[in-house]
Parts: sequence; structure tokens; C-alpha cells
Amino acid sequence: MLASATRKLGEGAVFWKAMGLTCAESSSVPAWQRDQAEHLWMPYTQMRNAPLPLPVVATEDVYLVLADGRRLIDGLASWWTACHGYNHPQIARRVRQQLEVMPHVMLGGIHHEGAVTLAARLASLLPGDLSQVFFSDSGSVAIEVAMKMAAQMWRNRGQAERNRFVTFRHAYHGDTTGAMSLCDPERSMHAHFKGFLLEQFSQPIPETESEQAAFTEFLATRRNELAAVVIEPLVQGAGGMRFHSPQALAAVARMTRQAGLLLIADEIATGFGRTGSMFACEQADIVPDILCLGKALTGGTLGMAATVATGEVFEAFCGEDDALALMHGPTYMANPLACAAAHGSLDLFAEQPRLDQVAAIESSLAEQLESCRNLSGVVDVRTLGAIGVVQVERLHSREKLTELFVEAGIWLRPFHDMFYLTPPLSITPVQLRRLTAATVDSIAQWSRWS
Ligand SMILES: Cc1ncc(COP(=O)(O)O)c(C=O)c1O
Repeated sequence: MLASATRKLGEGAVFWKAMGLTCAESSSVPAWQRDQAEHLWMPYTQMRNAPLPLPVVATEDVYLVLADGRRLIDGLASWWTACHGYNHPQIARRVRQQLEVMPHVMLGGIHHEGAVTLAARLASLLPGDLSQVFFSDSGSVAIEVAMKMAAQMWRNRGQAERNRFVTFRHAYHGDTTGAMSLCDPERSMHAHFKGFLLEQFSQPIPETESEQAAFTEFLATRRNELAAVVIEPLVQGAGGMRFHSPQALAAVARMTRQAGLLLIADEIATGFGRTGSMFACEQADIVPDILCLGKALTGGTLGMAATVATGEVFEAFCGEDDALALMHGPTYMANPLACAAAHGSLDLFAEQPRLDQVAAIESSLAEQLESCRNLSGVVDVRTLGAIGVVQVERLHSREKLTELFVEAGIWLRPFHDMFYLTPPLSITPVQLRRLTAATVDSIAQWSRWS
């Protein structure tokens, strides 16, 4: 059976399978991985020559547990999701209780308590009049919904030609086609889809006075075809972990407002404390018209996202004509288990000093990563909230690095031109020191390989 499966899947799988079989002598490759891994198509992976992924069999606190029992401190919190660490008992209890009562129910024509109370709870936490919550199942879909909301708002107001978006260099907003169109068209991983995607306008983030004047002029000239400006507030994540100042963010918000456009804040990565405040927009004292949430919304438990609009945006969808309504409805939207997990996570934000912990993580990361600055090949070290970045001239030897990290008891996944850390916000000072010491040590060894 295996031989035919391998043939069916082609050359790419052969390499992987060969790797698996070679490793099979070692006890670290479990049978399920050794015998069946070639069927699983991995994300962002060249399947032809990718090394066998790490077999993770359990999670606990800030640890990933490997099949052979080794425990790695997760320096990424599973792509920024596990903000309270893994398997938090309060979240697990909520989800277990919900599982007994009602794992899922469609939202069309039906209300359930978890969805109604979660929407109200998010509205009360978010700044300003961000009060109308539309749930979906992933960040990319939340972005699609935000784009549709913005375009339809103008349509409903009789301005159907206003349907293009202004985004920023190095932006990343997800992997579905609408979201891909908002990513940097030249530098992002989606750049080779040029011609397939909707064409938007990509601008530099205007930091200086002259850049702001140019941005204002750009908005004025294109105003009549534009629906909204879309920004990842304070941190551009997958586009390179680039930070901008609250002042620049506030200026973008001001210029967008002056041009009469909507502002969409993509807080899918930054929301829920990551940058030091519950939402990054708070640091610039701005209220966008539409705000997207995801990732840490359920504390890393289940896929869930939300697109939240102000009352003013929502108003454009209300009226006598049914065609004014938002025609969108993911099958699993507001899944009751995900709502329960999100409530559990928000309970923890209310009860635990998470934002104080983020402040402490920020200063520890800044202090403990500083020594990387002097290493050969390192061009920058920067931190913001619970995000630490060591940027290098050129990332190389990624496979060897993974081995090094695992030996050192940590899990990191450097990409682009950088090493980055986004640990659970609940990580203890001792665990954080172990993570940063192993990171610095590994980067020092890596820098000697160049
Ligand atoms: C800023 C931002 N927006 C959108 C997304 C897409 O979210 P998802 O992967 O849940 O579709 C991501 C994912 O990394 C992100 O960082």
C-alpha cells in the first residue's frame, strides 16, 4: 500500500518518505509519521525536499511535547495563538462543558448564548463605537468580510465605483484571494500571483512629513475609486516583523478620515495584548471603522475570527431593501465551542495580569537579545511588546538551525531574513530566560557558519 501511495504522490513524497524511513531506526519517529506522512500537504513548504517535520504529541503550558518525550519551549505560541500557554484548564473546562451541550449549530436564523454574549463582550472591550461583530472561522476570511463590508457600504450608499483598497509595503493580510490582493504585491509570498489578483494600491507607511503629504495627495487623487485603507497597526507581521510608531498610525488614521475613506485595522496578529495594549490601535488612540480579530481570540484553542464594524458602517446595511444586507455566512461561524474558548480566554485576560506580563516580557526580550547585535550577519535587534526580532543579512541553514533549536529545547521557525520570538504571554521569567538564552546561543553558532 505504501509503495503505491508513494508512486501516486510523485517524487516529492519519495524524498520525505526516504527521510522518514532513514529516521525510523531512531525512536524519535513514531509509526504514524513514518508510515503515513506523505499524504499530508504541509503549509508554506517545498514538499520535494522538506525535512520531516517534528512529531508533536502533546502540549502543556508553554511546551510542545515531542514523540520521544522531549519538551520544547514554544517561542512562537503556535503562530501567535496560545496567549495563555497551552491547555489552560479554564478554557478547557468551558469547551468541555459546551461540548456536552451543543458542539455546533448554524447561525443562520438561530441565536445561541455563546455568540450573543461574545459579540457583546468584544464590543465592550474594543475602543469607540466598534460594536457590530461578524464571526468567521479564520483570519483570512475575517479580512475578506472586511473588504466586502467596506465595498458594500459604498455600494449601498450609491457609490459602487469605490471598491479598491490602499495597503502598505510589506503588508500581509492572509492567504485567500481577496486578502492576498492586500499583501505587498512585489515582496510578499503572494507576489507571483500578479495578474490573478485584484489590483490594489500599495503605499509606503508615511512616517515623515513629506511622506504624509504625498500620502494625503495620493488619497485625494484616487479618492473616488477607493473604499478603504487597510493597515496592520504597529506591527507588520508576516511581511517582515516591521514596526511603525503610534504617531505614524495616528497620522494614517487622520489622513484616511480626512479623505473620507474607511480605515480597516487588521489586528489579527496584534490583538489581545501582543504589542503591550489589549489592541494595538489603543496606543495611537484611534478607532478604525472596521477591525479584524483572530489568532489569540480563542486562546489558541479553536479557529475563530471576527470582523467588527462601527455603528455608522453597520447603518449602511440596514433598510427596507433586503439587498442592503451583508450576504455572507461561513458554515461554522460563531461555532459554540470556539465561542466558549473565546469566553475562557477573555476571562483570563480579565483575571490575570497579562498586560503587565507583556511589559515585563518586552524589557526582558530587549535586554536578553541585545547581545545578538554584535554577531556577524545580524543587522538589527528590535522588540515591541511580546515580540522579539533578530534581523539578519541573509537567513541560511534553516534545517541545521531547527536541529540546533531542538537540541537546545526550544521551538522557533526563522523566516524571510529574521529570527523572531512571540512566546505565550503567560511565559514565566525563568522560562523566558531559557528561551532567549537558547536563542542567542543558537544564533551565535549559526553566525559562525556563514
Ligand atoms: C496580520 C494578519 N492578518 C491576517 C492573517 C490571516 O489569518 P489566518 O491565518 O487565520 O487566515 C494573518 C496570519 O498570520 C496575519 O498575521
